[in-house]
Amino acid sequence: MTDRTIAEPTRLVETLTSLAKRRGFIFQSSEIYGGVNAIYDFGPLGVALRRNIRDLWWRHVVELRHDVVGLESGIIMHPRVWEASGHVQSFTDPLVECKSCHQRWRADHLAAEDGANPTCPNCGSREFSEERQFNLMFKTHLGPVEDSGAEVFLRPETAQGMFVQFQNVLNSTRKRVPFGIAQQGKAYRNEISPGNYIFRLREFELQELEFFVKPGTDDDWFDHWKAERMRWWTDVLGVRAARLRFRPHGEDELAHYAKGAVDIEYEYPFGWSELEGIANRTDYDLSRHIEYSGRDLSFFDEETKERYVPYVIEPAMGIDRCMFTVMLDAYDEEEVRGEKRALLRFHPNVAPVQVAVLPLSKNEKLLPTSREVEEMLRPHFRIEYDETQSIGRRYRRHDEIGTPFAVTIDFDTLEDRAVTIRERDSMAQERVPIAELEGALSKRLHDAGGSTL
Ligand code: GAP
Repeated sequence: MTDRTIAEPTRLVETLTSLAKRRGFIFQSSEIYGGVNAIYDFGPLGVALRRNIRDLWWRHVVELRHDVVGLESGIIMHPRVWEASGHVQSFTDPLVECKSCHQRWRADHLAAEDGANPTCPNCGSREFSEERQFNLMFKTHLGPVEDSGAEVFLRPETAQGMFVQFQNVLNSTRKRVPFGIAQQGKAYRNEISPGNYIFRLREFELQELEFFVKPGTDDDWFDHWKAERMRWWTDVLGVRAARLRFRPHGEDELAHYAKGAVDIEYEYPFGWSELEGIANRTDYDLSRHIEYSGRDLSFFDEETKERYVPYVIEPAMGIDRCMFTVMLDAYDEEEVRGEKRALLRFHPNVAPVQVAVLPLSKNEKLLPTSREVEEMLRPHFRIEYDETQSIGRRYRRHDEIGTPFAVTIDFDTLEDRAVTIRERDSMAQERVPIAELEGALSKRLHDAGGSTL
């Protein structure tokens, strides 16, 4: 994989935004009505990419481990959950309003130079209202009466589902501490200044693990999950290690529930920023739910006859930010025979399409064998069959959507029962008998670090 060849960082995000729309990865929500700020829809290829990311997370965090189980909890929970968790009180960002244009900004996101007041990014004024704390939770009402007694929140994180169901999971499984509960699902935050495309959204999808451990073993488990998660980014998704780093949180930026936290950061075109957070939430959440619900959420260790409230190590990442990162990391441009070639060098694990099946032309003679190849490969790989446009344009499209391999059926195929495999990255082509095609593709995917389907 070459390093990024594209020049200016802002152009990279613009280029990717355009590609993502043109090729059907990402669309603005309700675009025909002018869009909704910080909410996006995902087209056919976006859905495929997200599903791959979701499945790879689930596979490595849940299925390949003996000590993690899954949960799906509701987006709306009892409002007391958010009082107990501290979100009603503390899930806030500092808000200021420009006195001139009345745009509202997140105070800590406004750039100030040399001790001067920051300037309004909209009108340039330096006059702002007093800073106030703005709660990021979306409110709605449950049932047909819109009074304060019916007020509920859309969850800003999935984690609380795991805490409030901790005892039910313990009672219904054979799991004993240390063990984890994992969840994937939508979360909502009324961000004051969303932006950077799909980096900071108001509706996004979280993948969170709450891993319950005995107090005193928490530091070791924290290190375990740091290593596991970094390995997932590099080895399973193929994100370049040089663009990833750990950044420990300073005392002043720790979330209200955390004893310690580290971000896995990625070097975005706009600078190093958080990709995933790993926090030591201590026994904060379980203890608060014990206090607010009056229920016993402690754990009794049958072996040592000890009762304690477990500590929690939490790796948490957003699928949207992951998708953005994987696309940015994979995007490349190069010159081929005097023409620009744009491509997504997706790792085969995440590529929405792993193998494109392409008859050389629409000629009817080629179609039966092409369909035969498609049907043979479809159970084994993520396949797209495409017979429109010239073969050159189809190769370019598959480069741009990150398809690692294309299989071309031509007129010689009808004589020798062999096809051409074209590799996306090297553009190298090799003739392979149809009878050996599945094995040849599996080997290539495996050699590129991937697994089939
Ligand atoms: N339960 C812990 C928690 O929610 P967080 O650091 O606030 O922690 C975890 O969020 C991850 O979720 C982030 O690292 C990021 O990947 C993603 N994320 C957070 N806010 C987001 C937003 N507004 N838009 C998109 N992704 C977001």
